[in-house]
Amino acid sequence: MDGAEWLTTLQRTCAPSGELAADVDALFAAHSRGITREHVPRVAREAGRLAQRFDVDPHHAEIAALLHDVGGIVSGAKMPALCESLGLPIVPEERQVPMLLHAKLSVMLARELYGVTDAGILQAIRFHTTLHAQPTPLDMVVFLADKLEWDQGGVPPYHAQLWSALEQGLEAGTHWFLGWMASPQARLLIPHPDLRAAWRAFGISAPD
Ligand SMILES: [Fe+2]
Ligand SMILES: [Fe+2]
Repeated sequence: MDGAEWLTTLQRTCAPSGELAADVDALFAAHSRGITREHVPRVAREAGRLAQRFDVDPHHAEIAALLHDVGGIVSGAKMPALCESLGLPIVPEERQVPMLLHAKLSVMLARELYGVTDAGILQAIRFHTTLHAQPTPLDMVVFLADKLEWDQGGVPPYHAQLWSALEQGLEAGTHWFLGWMASPQARLLIPHPDLRAAWRAFGISAPD
């Protein structure tokens, strides 16, 4: 898939109206992404609530949350070729599990289709799946909102414990969830290098 052509087509067929929630909803509908279409507004509401609670800009949190999964309009099988065509770097773990690339594609669409230029918002989108070694409060809010309002149906198995860890603060909640991701229950397909960096930074032992 040629990245430039793909972007031009999207800019023509899914041109933003300025109402971001509606635009993102229409984008997912146009690409038959029903599960993500339902997941994203839930994440945006939760990100807004966490942001209020932990003194993060709720508007920035909502924008990042609305855009965090827009890269998912591309199928996993097509992601590596598309990223290559767009000049986006691919690490070996992303070759093995191409869906991990959706976050990089989301950043690209946030910038090129929706005109987002705020570096903090783009970073929160980029690291919403894996986090990284030095997350900002906005990164943590979007990361945890995505996990609290997951897209796997029903209530996540960790929901009550994560909620209770958050009573000790945003960092404590993040630490708890990174620990859960290192546990066998998480059944990670592969630990992304950014997640490994987050584990190291938070003093969490990585699984073998
Ligand atoms: Fe995602
Ligand atoms: Fe998500």
